[in-house]
Amino acid sequence: MTTASKTDEVLNELDLLASASRSADTLMAQVVKLLHQRMLKYNWVGFYMIEKSTASGQAPVLVLGHFEGAMTPHTRIPLNQGICGAAASSGKTVVVDDVHSDSRYLACSIETKSEIVVPVFVHGKVVGELDIDSHFPAAFSSEDRQLVEHCAALVGKQLEKSSA
Ligand code: SME
Repeated sequence: MTTASKTDEVLNELDLLASASRSADTLMAQVVKLLHQRMLKYNWVGFYMIEKSTASGQAPVLVLGHFEGAMTPHTRIPLNQGICGAAASSGKTVVVDDVHSDSRYLACSIETKSEIVVPVFVHGKVVGELDIDSHFPAAFSSEDRQLVEHCAALVGKQLEKSSA
């Protein structure tokens, strides 16, 4: 199977999951599982969500949610730290082809070579993100970026439904 048809197949499965999903939490668990199982270069797949109830005056923090892959030491990431913090604070997808040449990188596994982080929006506001690490350098092509952005958008829509 070509990479393109594999990606299309995974996209179809994701759309089916999203249309049948009753909660954003379940959908996030299903998304990380599917991506981790089916996309062979996606070695760690997880959501970080911005903590809702921080005490007044405290900076917002990204908190690890559903994930597949080895446990990471980074379960709470301030918005001014890491590639994760950069994506959440800018509201933009960040693709890093070589994590070791990026000074923002917070190491999760010594095997990680490249990373993509895509923000999740609810009514135009960043509420979290989908983070994927690969053991392969430059693993995330524009096709991967579209796939991961699609996943983040599906979760954003489901969160909007739940908060309606
Ligand atoms: N590498 C991320 C930290 C999260 S772990 O990869 C799971 C970062 O630089 O923000």
